[in-house]
Amino acid sequence: EPEDLLQLRPPIITIMGHVDHGKTSLLDYIRKTKITAGEAGGITQHVAAYKVEHEGKPITFIDTPGHAIFSDMRARGADITDIVVLVVAANDGIMPQTLEAIEHAKKAKKTIIVAINKIDLPTANSMRVKTQLAEKGLQTVDFGGDVEFVEISALTGAGIPDLLELLALQAEVLELKANPKGNARAAIIEARVQPGRGATASVIVETGTLKVGTPFICGPFAGKVKSLINDRGEQIKEAKPGTPVEVIGFDEMPNVGDELVEMDNVRAAQKLADERQLDLRNSRLKMTQKSRMEDLFSNVIEGTGKAVLKLVLKCDVQGSVEAIKKAIGDIQSDKVTAQVIIGGAGPITEGDVQMASSADAVVLGFNTKVEANAVKAVKSEGVQVKLYSIVYELIDQVREAMLGMLE
Ligand code: GTP
Ligand code: MG
Ligand code: NA
Repeated sequence: EPEDLLQLRPPIITIMGHVDHGKTSLLDYIRKTKITAGEAGGITQHVAAYKVEHEGKPITFIDTPGHAIFSDMRARGADITDIVVLVVAANDGIMPQTLEAIEHAKKAKKTIIVAINKIDLPTANSMRVKTQLAEKGLQTVDFGGDVEFVEISALTGAGIPDLLELLALQAEVLELKANPKGNARAAIIEARVQPGRGATASVIVETGTLKVGTPFICGPFAGKVKSLINDRGEQIKEAKPGTPVEVIGFDEMPNVGDELVEMDNVRAAQKLADERQLDLRNSRLKMTQKSRMEDLFSNVIEGTGKAVLKLVLKCDVQGSVEAIKKAIGDIQSDKVTAQVIIGGAGPITEGDVQMASSADAVVLGFNTKVEANAVKAVKSEGVQVKLYSIVYELIDQVREAMLGMLE
């Protein structure tokens, strides 16, 4: 990019850490919101991005889930961020997803700032956290290392102004710039279907300015921005670099991790989409040819008496579909295997139910609804539909069902 077109943009800060160490509570305190109170099971189950003003300057925060199964969401969060804030609860110390977050941050080569949280608790032990992290290669500046640590309480607000000050300072050092004039590019951090809005995506604008009316390509799909909604639910006309925004106007559900790229006009976007879809079909064809071999294997498995639990899985967001499919695939059993025959974001449709009926599958819904037509189909086809709002309850019940098939 030509130097004179570059302008300062807000830093993108991703909050990572083990489940329940206080990531969402920290953002709630900063934003004066109560997201944590409304979360099913008290856990975060998707990625969300927020804009905050600190002393007149904007900062963009990404909240990630700490539960073990959302590893891919954490990795993506680390990828698009400038700085990672690693939240570690002072009473708990480092835990498996603390270590995983460090790995993601290191792999993405991002600066880590450690926030030791819950220092209001009598059982808080900041020194232990510092020692534990030093053993993992994150040495505090107090010990002569190069990692900044801040002690905070998301409950009382202690230390949070210091954390924000430090983030603003680090951002200044990084001199984060982007060209707001060029063609817009934005990273898709989450995608979902919303009633009345169709497929929508949470994006963070990387360069250029995303405007209502902008034609774009996103992976193999074309689209045109119909409306933009900020993190407070307000309609906005444009979003500049570093800004998180919800985009409405996708023809199809975009893939998380893909990039939305502005095109000159709708026709050019459609042409490129057609080309990419053709490529995709060709590579799928190659994959099917390859998977004939795997079919043989699965027959062998069934021949040895391994039963198959077939599942139709519909979720609120694309990121959850991926995370749950992976977790189901990880369930170990010698005698039963679970197979997700349909997995997608959106409500449970009549088609899903019919597919489940003909394949003898169970329908699982995670944070989603059953469409009215599908309700009728469920009754007439006698298909089993189960709805969940907490991810580990779904996984546990799939595991139980697999074991139950042996009885
Ligand atoms: P996941 O998104 O599920 O990984 O959790 P999280 O890291 O976002 O943690 P969350 O904000 O949901 O907080 C978990 C629990 O810890 C809640 O009951 C909070 O009220 C509590 N909590 C968070 N921060 C503090 C703190 O500084 N002090 C105390 N005492 N409790 C806290
Ligand atoms: Mg959370
Ligand atoms: Na939580």
